[in-house]
Amino acid sequence: MRIDIITVVPEILKSPFEASILKRAIDKGIVEVHMHNLRDYTDKSYNQVDDYQFGGGAGMVLMIEPIDKCISTLKSQREYDEVIYMTPDGKTLNQKMANGLSLLNNVIILCGHYKGVDQRVRDVFVTKEISIGDYVLSGGELGAAVLCDTVIRLIPGVLNNETSALTDTFQDNLLAPPVYTRPAEYKGHKVPDILLSGNFPKIETWREDEAYKRTEQLRPDLLKD
Ligand code: ADE
Repeated sequence: MRIDIITVVPEILKSPFEASILKRAIDKGIVEVHMHNLRDYTDKSYNQVDDYQFGGGAGMVLMIEPIDKCISTLKSQREYDEVIYMTPDGKTLNQKMANGLSLLNNVIILCGHYKGVDQRVRDVFVTKEISIGDYVLSGGELGAAVLCDTVIRLIPGVLNNETSALTDTFQDNLLAPPVYTRPAEYKGHKVPDILLSGNFPKIETWREDEAYKRTEQLRPDLLKD
């Protein structure tokens, strides 16, 4: 998968891709992530990419021209499956959406900033609008990082058996069961006996029951779907 991220603050997006699972996915060649600074696509003085909104009102708006230039340059080099715009009024990201996106080859992610982008960008170029939750971030960059993390870890070959995404919370619309590691007893707090029994079919049943119980208790809304 190739991900091209368009942003006015590429600095915010560096570190998530420089460590841990995302770095490994890039090093293994399973995913390519390219940052594009919108300021490199403007002819205006001071690398201006935003302007006041028509009709008045507080807050700057990202202009269509530099975004058009950046997206057109990318599209002249390869086909893209989606042009995603990160915005609080987009569809709220969930595991099902991440599963679908992990199957794509080439994706552009556009990060909004200030008051957002000129509506014509959304009308003309954007194919999907995604929010990471009902709260407002200073820009789409942290949203893009969250989206990339949740999608990249699902691409085959990124996680190994030990970290398989198949047993993640939400993967069956269930929260994950509790997990324990050594020591088997800590200051009187014991690991459930079943997990030490070596009876793997029974352990599997226990985990399924616990996942269901936990979901019923903490997220009953998930069981309604
Ligand atoms: N940009 C600002 N707020 C956002 C959010 N909640 N999700 C995605 N992008 C955003």
